[in-house]
Amino acid sequence: MARKKITVVGAGNVGASAAQRLAERELGDVVLVDIPETKGMPAGKSLDLFESTPIYGKDVRLVGATEYGATAGSDIVIITAGKPRTPGMSRDDLLNTNAKIVRDVCENVKKHSPDAILIIVSNPLDAMCTVAMKTTGFPAHRVIGMAGILDSARMRSFIAEALDVSVECVHAMVLGGHGDTMVPMPRFSTVSGIPITELLPKEKIQAINDRTRSGGAEIVKLLEKGSAYYAPAAAAVEMVEAILKDKKKVLPCAAYLSGEYGVSGIFVGVPVKLGSKGIEAILELKLSPEESAALQKSAGAVKELVGAMG
Ligand code: NAI
Ligand code: 2OP
Repeated sequence: MARKKITVVGAGNVGASAAQRLAERELGDVVLVDIPETKGMPAGKSLDLFESTPIYGKDVRLVGATEYGATAGSDIVIITAGKPRTPGMSRDDLLNTNAKIVRDVCENVKKHSPDAILIIVSNPLDAMCTVAMKTTGFPAHRVIGMAGILDSARMRSFIAEALDVSVECVHAMVLGGHGDTMVPMPRFSTVSGIPITELLPKEKIQAINDRTRSGGAEIVKLLEKGSAYYAPAAAAVEMVEAILKDKKKVLPCAAYLSGEYGVSGIFVGVPVKLGSKGIEAILELKLSPEESAALQKSAGAVKELVGAMG
């Protein structure tokens, strides 16, 4: 059986880290693409990554490119192309610059890999998913945004730390747009099935929610240049693995909604089932009035941003 082909567009921090994890998990051959101005950078990083494969014993090939010929027929394309945040910037400040970049990338993806499943990472995430779907014309189940896995991994880390329990026992749910209005869901966040609302006092849960919402900004502030990339790359690779291994994992991802949760025509973070077809189902949680209001507010913020792109 031929190996799967995974293209990663944007050979920067998130893209290169994702390529490394894809290879280490032997998920498929990887093509790392960046713009011509980066010259040998994507090829250099890919060669370095390929030369590490004998050390950990995984048989995949990695190549770098500054055009799309080598990407032809990719099964999955991860789009990390674009500018990251710098201190003081919100994800939304990246809107027009990254919309132009994502549009350009998607025109190439459509031409060279018309059957691919897209995983969008570029920010502002939910709006970039709309750009990707409109540009490629791909069906909604093949355009998926990475954010909820990252945001809920942050929440899981903070819960595990607060309760001094294994991260493996902790599950968390963060819904809504990948921005300041994202909605951590303590009622649906558990330690081996026990909701954290039964394990932690209200004030601690509030503090965890707040830290989760500002988790990206916390890292931007510390790094001073650029934004988080280890956890974002790990999150994108979890999506690739769920799809290529047809695992049917239920994970929070940005999905195009057509009436689910009372929202239509935009991408918002919700629990989805990820398998070989991409998004195979959108799961609707029974939300309390407060949770529902917070999700609607977040969807409203995404709608406004999409509207601002024209
Ligand atoms: P980076 O600056 O390290 O890498 C971005 C790469 O994209 C650069 O190498 C750049 O040359 C390349 N690029 C720019 N225009 C391109 C084009 N037209 N075609 C191909 N490549 C192009 O940035 P980093 O840290 O890797 O972040 C990438 C994006 O991902 C940013 O927009 C960032 O905000 C976003 N991000 C989103 C997350 C999420 O949860 N959805 C998490 C982390 C980052
Ligand atoms: C993050 O949440 C920058 O969106 C990116 O770290």
